[in-house]
Amino acid sequence: MADPIIIAVPKGRILEEAVPLLQRVGIDPEDAFADEESRALRFRTSRDDIDLIRVRAFDVATFVAHGAASLGIVGSDVLEEFAYSEIYAPVDLRIGHCRLSVAEPAALAARDDPRGWSHIRIATKYPNTTRRHFEARGVGAECIKLNGAMELAPVLGLAPRIVDLVSSGRTLKENGLVEVETIAEVTSRLIVNRAAFKTRAEVVPLVDAFRRAVEPVAA
Ligand code: PRP
Repeated sequence: MADPIIIAVPKGRILEEAVPLLQRVGIDPEDAFADEESRALRFRTSRDDIDLIRVRAFDVATFVAHGAASLGIVGSDVLEEFAYSEIYAPVDLRIGHCRLSVAEPAALAARDDPRGWSHIRIATKYPNTTRRHFEARGVGAECIKLNGAMELAPVLGLAPRIVDLVSSGRTLKENGLVEVETIAEVTSRLIVNRAAFKTRAEVVPLVDAFRRAVEPVAA
């Protein structure tokens, strides 16, 4: 048998929503896949020809871009940040809803006017998207790249503002920050390695199966 098709799925919140979606596609992961305690990284499924890997969100795109995984599930935030030419993103999976926002301490927001910004310092995991967003309206954004815990940056003086994902808003609230601007609405996409799409016959029907699994159920 040919090597199994690998589908890369991000750890964390998207994974919970991805499991029922995968099941609707006809791919039932082994139990350890949804168990965050498990240290395994590669998992079998009910289909002998499909394995899953569980990696960080930004790494999903890297595995798929290099063809190490043929398909992946990843937020539109990651695709926006990296613009990989080797990746095709044919299906909005309508899971992982959140937004990419600018936030700052509540005390600063009370006297701040975003229309008056000309140069700002921002701590973020998304420097490319952030710079592009502000350049479009003539604001220079000096970005300090962090990989997590952006919310600490304002209070510790690293940067007065952050750009990060917001879902329930709880992380911002617990760290005394408020949203001042939304940069983008985010949902998860099915991504496919372009070469695999052309060369592996199993990939096209799989993409169609994902598309059908997210279509609204007919009344
Ligand atoms: C994301 C994001 C925020 C948080 C927002 O982090 O970076 O910290 O979720 O969610 P909320 O609005 O519901 O509080 P995540 O937990 O995905 O982990 P990460 O820090 O590894 O990105």
